[in-house]
Amino acid sequence: MCGIVGYIGESQAAPILLEGLAKLEYRGYDSAGIAVYDGSQINMMKSVGRLKVLNELTHDGETLPGTLGIGHTRWATHGSPNDVNAHPHYNSDNTIAVVHNGIIENYMKLRKRLTAHGYTFISETDTEVVAHLLDYYYKGNPIETIIKVMHRVEGSYALGIIFKDHPDEVYAVRKDSPLIVGHTKDGNILASDVPAVLKYTRNVYFIENEEIVRLSKTDMKFYNVDEEELEKEATTIEWDVSAAEKGGYEHYMLKEMYEQPKAVRDTISPADPRIVNNKIEISELNMTDEEICSIHKLYIVACGSAYHAGVTGKYVIEGLARIPVEVDLASEFRYRDPIYEKNSMAIIISQSGETADSLAALRDAKAHGIKVLGIVNVVGSSIAREADSVMYTWAGPEIAVATTKAYSAQLIALYLLAMKFAYTRQQIDDNELQTLIKDLRKLPEQMELLLNNKEKIQHFANRYIASRDVFFIGRGIDYAISLEGSLKLKEISYIHSEAYAAGELKHGTISLIEEGTLVAAVLTQEQLYKKTISNMVEVKSRGAFVLAVTNTGNTEVEKAADYVIYIPQTNKYFANSLAIIPLQLFGYYVSLGKGCDIDKPRNLAKSVTVE
Ligand code: AGP
Repeated sequence: MCGIVGYIGESQAAPILLEGLAKLEYRGYDSAGIAVYDGSQINMMKSVGRLKVLNELTHDGETLPGTLGIGHTRWATHGSPNDVNAHPHYNSDNTIAVVHNGIIENYMKLRKRLTAHGYTFISETDTEVVAHLLDYYYKGNPIETIIKVMHRVEGSYALGIIFKDHPDEVYAVRKDSPLIVGHTKDGNILASDVPAVLKYTRNVYFIENEEIVRLSKTDMKFYNVDEEELEKEATTIEWDVSAAEKGGYEHYMLKEMYEQPKAVRDTISPADPRIVNNKIEISELNMTDEEICSIHKLYIVACGSAYHAGVTGKYVIEGLARIPVEVDLASEFRYRDPIYEKNSMAIIISQSGETADSLAALRDAKAHGIKVLGIVNVVGSSIAREADSVMYTWAGPEIAVATTKAYSAQLIALYLLAMKFAYTRQQIDDNELQTLIKDLRKLPEQMELLLNNKEKIQHFANRYIASRDVFFIGRGIDYAISLEGSLKLKEISYIHSEAYAAGELKHGTISLIEEGTLVAAVLTQEQLYKKTISNMVEVKSRGAFVLAVTNTGNTEVEKAADYVIYIPQTNKYFANSLAIIPLQLFGYYVSLGKGCDIDKPRNLAKSVTVE
């Protein structure tokens, strides 16, 4: 995934572009570049490395004067991260410049066709094909040119484009990659995401697929592929700039971990409360009790941590509501040719709402007549807009690539759904519902207790920054917790880690256990304690160092563990919300000890908008 910005107005463009890119760096950060029209030509500066390199090269934009420009921060898909492959890209005579987020899937075929027409390429990117294709069709009308290019390219794109002989306008178009536009005090701005424009406006226009934008200093116009002008409504963004800043924390990830109690409270009780008169009310579902009772199956589809939340969702929904649930990785789901049952519903979980695999799974389910519920954090994102109904997780903007508060909010959304379905389908009575509601409301303060225990975790973590392999094991919901604990560690510390269903370890993986190998065992499900303890003994007898994360009072575990972290007692279905806190802190402090870039881990991006 990448980030694009564009600006036209009375102010110097370069500083605005650089500032916008800084707010989008979480989307990709292996190289960056800007192109600015100086009144006679389009000048460009781009460089491999973090945005600060570009800031230094351009003296914070001073070396690129002009009030019209585009910018880009890259997560490489085609062509390694280097100066040449960085965006923007020119056409042959530097009269057109383009930035792109997405993937042009038929770029090789187009590249061959353009080469046959005499075009030469200097980069390995798919985006340079767009620059030359724009040139190929350009006869002086940018909108007409863009439409012709749209008919030829396949794949996903959010494009920012400037034409030298249209120095009073910047153009944009999107298909499957996010794009927004907004007014600044003296012009207009386009970007991949809200943080880049929030400094100027909280009224943003979400661009829909195959809509084209023409921005001038004083005007913004929208067109469809028939060149018809469109009317669009602005969406008001509720969260404020500080919400997207570090707020004194060393890293966004640490700040967002500490925002988890608030994210949980806000997801339980958003502006439209979800617990009313001690009953669960999820108005966004748009489902009658009859419809809820008629559900025969649920398909939960997501990627990464959202998938891990979905695995927990399966246990909780099946346990409480007794509805069969299938959970799939979105990148696998539509390729297994799923057998969609009648009276079923798909639940797509996504923090960003832009993950290409999850969006594609949503479309596949809808194409088969399956009602889709989105559990999404970014308001107005593609998945939120294309789902039949959306249940927002009110975690606020999440900047760190490694998700924490959005994940915790996803769990809450799934608990609420399970409770709603269980009570409506009379699988639980009112007493049981009230007990669940009481336990749910206690989670934020219990999370705060665990977060305040960070020094103990940091001390323990420092012993493992040199680890080569770390294993996480658990059964049932504890396996789901292990999946997320393992991902948190590996994605920000680069230490190899795997999660295993505890009972599966002896079917092969246990051969990897050596003297001192760290095995983190999660034991929150009382009915499974003994089983997991026996797995702990198995690995311990082969030299492992065993960390246990378990419920207060389960002292039995101490005979099999070398180090124990106790979490407060809660309902067994909600245990993930508490057990994940020490595991998040563990991953964070190992990464900190290793000196890794915690908020922007290598090779990653906050939302993967390419397949
Ligand atoms: C989680 O820490 C990772 N950043 C990643 O696995 C993420 O959960 C996944 O890419 C899904 O993103 P989404 O929730 O925005 O769809």
